Amino acid sequence: MTRRVLVTGASGILGRQLQARCPQGWTVLPFARSELDITDRQRVREVIAAAKPDAVVHAAAMTRVDDCEKEVDHTFRVNWIGTQNVAEAAAAVDAHMVHLSTDYVFDGTKVGPYLEEDPTGPLSVYGRSKLFAERAVQSSCRRWAVLRTQWVYGPGGTNFVDTMRRLGGEGKSLQVVDDQHGCPTFAGHLADGIYRVLDEDPGSGIYHLSGGGATTWFQFAREIFRQTSLEVEVSPCSTEQFPRPAPRPANGVMRNYRLELSIGDPMPAWQKGLEEYLSLTQHASP
Ligand SMILES: NC(=O)c1ccc[n+]([C@@H]2O[C@H](COP(=O)([O-])OP(=O)(O)OC[C@H]3O[C@@H](n4cnc5c(N)ncnc54)[C@H](OP(=O)(O)O)[C@@H]3O)[C@@H](O)[C@H]2O)c1
Repeated sequence: MTRRVLVTGASGILGRQLQARCPQGWTVLPFARSELDITDRQRVREVIAAAKPDAVVHAAAMTRVDDCEKEVDHTFRVNWIGTQNVAEAAAAVDAHMVHLSTDYVFDGTKVGPYLEEDPTGPLSVYGRSKLFAERAVQSSCRRWAVLRTQWVYGPGGTNFVDTMRRLGGEGKSLQVVDDQHGCPTFAGHLADGIYRVLDEDPGSGIYHLSGGGATTWFQFAREIFRQTSLEVEVSPCSTEQFPRPAPRPANGVMRNYRLELSIGDPMPAWQKGLEEYLSLTQHASP
């Protein structure tokens, strides 16, 4: 029997991959912002009640983290209240609610990778809004999973890989931040991991779901140039030399520990994700 998964934020980076990589046994009901604005509580209720999906993957969010610092009310309305709307509507039809969260819920001071139960301490408006959203899901739903991911890239929208390819192709020498640590995550692998969670249901809870391994933006850039055979002069710099409005966790590395211990870690190494993304997009100009 085919099960149905309703996807919010369907035109975003992850939303597209959830459609592109939908496995056998699932049908996607995609809702972009133009079809379903998650801040409209009544509409969210009506749409989810009418669709009666088996699962909801909530991929809609305000993700421009620097803009979140000045658009505070908008950020909380979309990321917190919007998520509460989706969670309540999913609970009303007893759908499995899958919510995407972020390493920005952590303050980045831990030595070593973050595990699911480590204390949170968001530094930014985006991080706080996503933490409130996690709590809204936990308190509203009977069957739920909060999946924390990070450094996501994929076709559609701007991303670090395309930016590096473009700048590298222009022959410029580059400086890239080398004191922020994280796990690059190819959106296609993230979508596969989400379907695995839906299929094998490890139980309600918070799970980390990022590309395997860890790196810095500088090392990530070097790997992009290695895999694309671009000869680029790239040197490391510090976060202080490249200030941004939203503070980033210096260490955002998350281990997919709870999945490792339950159904097995579904995420390939981050270098594999890059390989797959580049092979998908090699003929497209970045
Ligand atoms: N990208 C990352 O590095 C990253 C890292 C950690 C966690 N996440 C989380 O992963 C999820 C998917 O992110 P993504 O990378 O796919 O981001 P994305 O490409 O920015 O997609 C988010 C989508 O949400 C939509 N949206 C914004 N406000 C909305 C509203 N009020 N109602 C309905 N839809 C709305 C956006 O539509 P418009 O384009 O029309 O604004 C966009 O299509 C999000 O929960 C995000 O917080 C992402």
